[in-house]
Amino acid sequence: MGSKLIGCGSAIPSLSVSNDDLSKIVETSDEWIAARTGIRNRRVLSGNETLRELSVQAGKRALEMAQVNADDVDLVLLCTSTPDDLFGGAARVLAEVGCTNAFGFDITAACSGFILGLITATRFIKGGGIQNVLIIGADALSQFVDWTDRGTCILFGDAAGAVLVQACNADEDGLLGFCVQSDGNGQKHLNCPSSNINSILSKTNGVPSFPPKKGNFSYIEMNGKEVFRFAVRYVPQSIEKALEEAGLSASSIDWLLLHQANQRIIDAAASRLDIPSDKVISNLANYGNTSAASIPLALDEAVRAGKVKTGNVIAASGFGAGLTWGSAVVKW
Ligand code: ACO
Repeated sequence: MGSKLIGCGSAIPSLSVSNDDLSKIVETSDEWIAARTGIRNRRVLSGNETLRELSVQAGKRALEMAQVNADDVDLVLLCTSTPDDLFGGAARVLAEVGCTNAFGFDITAACSGFILGLITATRFIKGGGIQNVLIIGADALSQFVDWTDRGTCILFGDAAGAVLVQACNADEDGLLGFCVQSDGNGQKHLNCPSSNINSILSKTNGVPSFPPKKGNFSYIEMNGKEVFRFAVRYVPQSIEKALEEAGLSASSIDWLLLHQANQRIIDAAASRLDIPSDKVISNLANYGNTSAASIPLALDEAVRAGKVKTGNVIAASGFGAGLTWGSAVVKW
């Protein structure tokens, strides 16, 4: 049994925050941010907006493009590290999309989340009994950014993107090759730690003392240089492995679609793979790093703009916290 990608959708918050806006709250400038990252704007949740609503909108748009009814969806994978509910957001999202016959769960892998979701969806389909899987990549890292830290607050934005994957004959399989890897030794370079990890229950003379505070998370902590080095070194290798499994070379793909973290990372990976810039999809100037949403958001824009066409081969790669990274060579 194969899997084909037949629809995509996305949704972004209404509030736009430019580099100039950020220069009013931290010591930075549009020139510095644009030169070091390629980012000029990002969207951030505001007012009553929720990540759940964005996820639902993106999911509905993917179903609409795929012309699949919500009640024909069997599985919904919500790839997010920032669900509205610590216990997971997939069940409520699938209910609001109207997927009355589906089950769902969250996949937590930050910026690699969507690629892992895509691969997980195809494995479920391969196992049989599953026809339609809705994969939603969504994150609102703005909640965990220290807006006084110019080293991190300039990078991130909020968004949701989705893809509908459908079962098909093995000879039509749209997942041509993939590769996933993790290195927990690199976790120290990029994380968002629990802030009350030491506040565990204890007993004194048989009397339990409860933690003084409820569980919570701290701010995103990042060693930008190490993450940059990791990405530039391992992402091209990961794509090469996925291409090898697909029996393809870098020169034969139509598009390179990397997690939108930094234009210099994207350019360096393309250059190592010898892929010309006109085959590289990039929209991070407008949205910054939207974590698990970045790949489906960029794909959705490229498909709706008519750039990515039916039958095109895309090498996609996600990388980030964990450290985790993964690549998938897919046919649109
Ligand atoms: N504006 C102006 N100056 C700044 C800013 C800023 N926003 N941020 C840092 N600086 C200063 C620093 O203080 C430093 O000054 P100093 O030389 O006087 O000490 C100087 O600029 C250089 O700082 P570096 O941190 O060395 O800058 P670098 O060139 O490494 O760029 C950046 C920083 C953009 C963060 C880069 O390292 C990067 O993009 N790394 C990858 C990060 C990434 O992609 N993370 C997301 C992964 S995905 C996920 O899982 C969430």
